[in-house]
Amino acid sequence: MRNISGNPYLYKENGNVYLDSVLLNEIINRYETPILIFLENRIRDNIRTFLRVFNSEFNNFQCYYSFKANYLSEICKIVLSEGIGAEIVGLPELKLALRIGFPPNKIIIGGPYLTKEVIELSIEHKIKEIIIYNLNDIEKVNSIAKNYNYIQDICIRVNSQKYNSKLGVKLDEKKLGELEKAYKSFQNIKIKTILSHYSTQMNDINQFKQNISSVADNLKLLSKRGIIVDNINLGGGFPEATIMPEKQLKHIAIEIKNILEEFEIYYKNIYFEPGRYFIGDAGLFVSKIVKIDESRWIFLNIGNHICPKFARCSLRFYNASQINKPHKYKTSIAGIIPTDQDVLAKDYFFTESLKEGDLVLVTNTGAYCLTFSNRFPYSLPKILLINETKVKSIFDQQINGDFSIT
Ligand SMILES: Cc1ncc(COP(=O)(O)O)c(C=O)c1O
Repeated sequence: MRNISGNPYLYKENGNVYLDSVLLNEIINRYETPILIFLENRIRDNIRTFLRVFNSEFNNFQCYYSFKANYLSEICKIVLSEGIGAEIVGLPELKLALRIGFPPNKIIIGGPYLTKEVIELSIEHKIKEIIIYNLNDIEKVNSIAKNYNYIQDICIRVNSQKYNSKLGVKLDEKKLGELEKAYKSFQNIKIKTILSHYSTQMNDINQFKQNISSVADNLKLLSKRGIIVDNINLGGGFPEATIMPEKQLKHIAIEIKNILEEFEIYYKNIYFEPGRYFIGDAGLFVSKIVKIDESRWIFLNIGNHICPKFARCSLRFYNASQINKPHKYKTSIAGIIPTDQDVLAKDYFFTESLKEGDLVLVTNTGAYCLTFSNRFPYSLPKILLINETKVKSIFDQQINGDFSIT
């Protein structure tokens, strides 16, 4: 038995591919490709690893799953059942989180644009924190909270100072003045937390250090104005769990703790908002070669409409029909959108023989593929959730129409 793509729930044995305890061939006999598959036990393992590592380094650690990484309700229910909170960007996600039972005191919500509806629903349900990306929103939150005779805890998302980053508040003198005024005069908000999310796929401790350095700078600016916050939120940005194994995650957690001490940052609670780490390597596409061109180009029956570059996944490709053959021959892989731009990989090490109809596994597609997918007019793949021997269909376009949330 040998793992495929470093994933213990995806392996080969006697030339057969298994997904958890299910034979790939059984799936292929029942469903047409392309299929998007999620491995429930991998999600659970990833969450437990993350909790184990961060709980062992921090005794005041809180974790909020970033719904935008994958907001399928069956996936979010798994996350909920592991005791994780929710980090939400807008109304549809908030309604979903409440519907499936996330406790409001474990939901934090914020984004570049907060509508009146989203603020009202958040306050009605007493969600834990509203995250402010834009200082104008503080007044909106304060006035809606006042109508509800409520004091809303808020978090300020500060700009991470990463080159070119436009998200979050850049605390210059003018903004600090506005914030100080809001802090002193608005009676229905309480600034509890500061958030800085730096980047995605962060493999290097220096990226985490940059982020913490930005938090330290911003905390100093705030405290000079008399604004003291209790909690720090360092966002997400961890790679897929197979890309960052537990040992490395532990190293990152230890270093984060050291860097926080080095910068003399004191906090009551530290939050993280992982998305990709929980779900990225728990998802994979089963696709098929539909065409082979000269110069070793193969075309799959998926493409950037459903497996988009924007998702920044660490894609890996395996010829499941020739799984025991060496994957060491450079092959380029195109998608099926009729544009030359639909390239999934160039010069990727693949099998020497290429046959139309060969099944191709595309791994690490659990996070952001659906979120960033677009409406190119092809059918949507079936989505299955596998747990040991159980295979559950969680999305079928014929029945469900679309996987968007409302
Ligand atoms: C504020 C914030 N938190 C968390 C995340 C989740 O990031 P990741 O999936 O890389 O962990 C993002 C992603 O963009 C984000 O913007």
